[in-house]
Amino acid sequence: MAEFLMEDGEMAQPENVRLSEDGKAVVILDQTQLPNVTEFLTLDTPKKMYDAIFELQVRGAPAIGICAGYCMYVLSGQIAEETKDYEGFLAKFREQKEYLNSSRPTAVNLSWALNRMENTVVANKERSVEEIVEILGAEAKEIQAEDQRMCRAISEYGLSLIKDGDGILTHCNAGPLATSSYGTALGPLFLGKERGMNFHVFSDETRPLLQGARLTSYELQKAGIDVTLICDNMASIVMKNGWVQACFVGCDRVAANGDAANKIGTSGVAILAKYYGIPFYVLGPTSTIDMNCKTGADIKIELRNPDEIKKKFYEKPMALEEVKCYNPAFDVTDHELIAGIITEKGICRAPYTESLVKLFED
Ligand code: MRU
Repeated sequence: MAEFLMEDGEMAQPENVRLSEDGKAVVILDQTQLPNVTEFLTLDTPKKMYDAIFELQVRGAPAIGICAGYCMYVLSGQIAEETKDYEGFLAKFREQKEYLNSSRPTAVNLSWALNRMENTVVANKERSVEEIVEILGAEAKEIQAEDQRMCRAISEYGLSLIKDGDGILTHCNAGPLATSSYGTALGPLFLGKERGMNFHVFSDETRPLLQGARLTSYELQKAGIDVTLICDNMASIVMKNGWVQACFVGCDRVAANGDAANKIGTSGVAILAKYYGIPFYVLGPTSTIDMNCKTGADIKIELRNPDEIKKKFYEKPMALEEVKCYNPAFDVTDHELIAGIITEKGICRAPYTESLVKLFED
């Protein structure tokens, strides 16, 4: 396994998403095969790119956005080989953009990054198509670099909320694999580790796709952070035992009123935390806040294949083929359950309708 998490106590850059050497493809670490196999995939066609996002080979809201930026750069190079005419280029660019945008609906970082790339094309319409492609490459790199800076800042703010020795419960995976480095919900734990602090982390396994078991416990264990893997239905008992001082989770889309969509099961954790008097924090970059969504009711929840529940990680099917399944990939945590939303610009507290607006004022 690539030792990409800690080198000499420092966070190393995880190469979960990057451009190929010749710039003609996007290379991703296939997260569906972790923790058993480390395989990198080369994405050089729209279909491969769409499938990689849809199949969660690249996943986690910020990482999806970073990947989408690089994908549009690679595709723009291909389009430029066919047409040097700006209008023709833009039309084809938009077609590919819409195709990638349809791969997953909930994480706003996907459309956010795609729109940013399109805006870059439009803002440079006086330039040649070749120049536009070059500028798009720089923009994609900047999306990734910005995410690194945002994760680092989120980690600092998150760390200020916990103390050495605390127990932290997390759900799904919001670590380096899901971002560019550090992660969001896991960032404070990695940063604390660098500073000699120790936390006890409870990682929900996160049914049905097991991001907590396969990715979070893997990332933390590799980094030498004390992690205990639990089934999702064990969160209550570890809270009741007094082992959890805070919950840290990531987010896929935060509405203007603070309602936050994250991996299915997150809202249940928040409800339990409220019952046991444990602060529940949502950590994410401002690129995950969608001020166009008034409340969580406006967030589209992705529905996925029932086989993920019945078959995906089992040798034999775990239910009769004909049994009905409901498989929403995300749920929305009500803003009233959230003690704080931690962004790279600071910690927002209720009322979120005011504190989130302030984030975007400067
Ligand atoms: O379906 P996934 O694995 O892409 O869902 C990921 C999550 O829900 C993460 O918590 C979220 O994207 C934040 S990642 C920093």
